[in-house]
Amino acid sequence: MHETRPHHEIAHLACIELCSPDPAGSEWFFTQLLGMYVTERRGQSVYLRGYEDPYPWSLKITEGPTPRMVHASLRTSSADALHRRVRAVAAAGLGDGWIDGDFGHGPAYRFHTPDGHELRLLWEAEQYLAPPDLRSKILTRPSKKPLHGVPVRRIDHLNLMAADVSAVRRTCEDLLGMRTRERLVDGDAEVGTWMSSNNLGHEVAVMRDARGALGRFHHVAFYYGVAQHNADAAEMFREQGVPIEAGPDRHGISQGAFLYVFEPGGNRVELFGDPGVLVLEPDFRTRTWTMDEIDVGMAIGGAQLPWETYFTYGTPPVEAPHDGTTGAATSDPAPVPD
Ligand SMILES: [Fe+2]
Repeated sequence: MHETRPHHEIAHLACIELCSPDPAGSEWFFTQLLGMYVTERRGQSVYLRGYEDPYPWSLKITEGPTPRMVHASLRTSSADALHRRVRAVAAAGLGDGWIDGDFGHGPAYRFHTPDGHELRLLWEAEQYLAPPDLRSKILTRPSKKPLHGVPVRRIDHLNLMAADVSAVRRTCEDLLGMRTRERLVDGDAEVGTWMSSNNLGHEVAVMRDARGALGRFHHVAFYYGVAQHNADAAEMFREQGVPIEAGPDRHGISQGAFLYVFEPGGNRVELFGDPGVLVLEPDFRTRTWTMDEIDVGMAIGGAQLPWETYFTYGTPPVEAPHDGTTGAATSDPAPVPD
């Protein structure tokens, strides 16, 4: 069968920008506990990277009144791929236009998913070159592994909440060329989808927002590659008063080893203990989970993902029930450290 859909036009998830009402607390969390390096400060923003992130930053924290995802950037596989994807997004009426490059980046094309999440596409990105004292003897490692906290290696994936999961999935599939690796359905309704355009089991996931709000953020995951690190990190978070939502355990969906916590700004962060399933065959079949399989899908080891937060709390927080308009900050309490 002739394949007409775009293929591997998106290379990977390059970075994410989060808004934090507690920027000092967020910076402490990501640097002291997760071992990320600060590489730049501009205005109300700080830029950070894990020790194996290939670029000068994978996380930008910007001070603001409410926790939320400002944007996430996807790097294309070539300059031509960027322009092809931009034409497709613009033709679909989702594009906002080009913006100047951020720190370490060339121009980016900004657009919104049908649910309202801001995504950017870019090709030009500097490779990170560590100063001499941070260079690793391991040549594929862009910088030394830090000696404190339980250091994450790199950004791994992004999970978005959506009022209409299928609409966001179709945008990622039809306009960006992503493939749906796994999905979760409730009868005829699609309530979750896990997608990638490379060998990872997922890089962008979308789950139904139980509050009915639009365009919210569920979590960003950073990669350890060793499940034991999730157990080590759980001890660290308990001792440091960081709220643990669930884990360590292993998802059935993606087979990734997970641990969910809330950073001091109120955004949910996942520590991804290992890569989970990898997609090597070009004709990988989408697997569809049903609600009677959700216990295994969520946690093979039986950990409970708490309904009162995991399926309802996203950023920005909203009141329940929601009227379906874009989520505005409310008094819905964000989890805070003990
Ligand atoms: Fe995740």
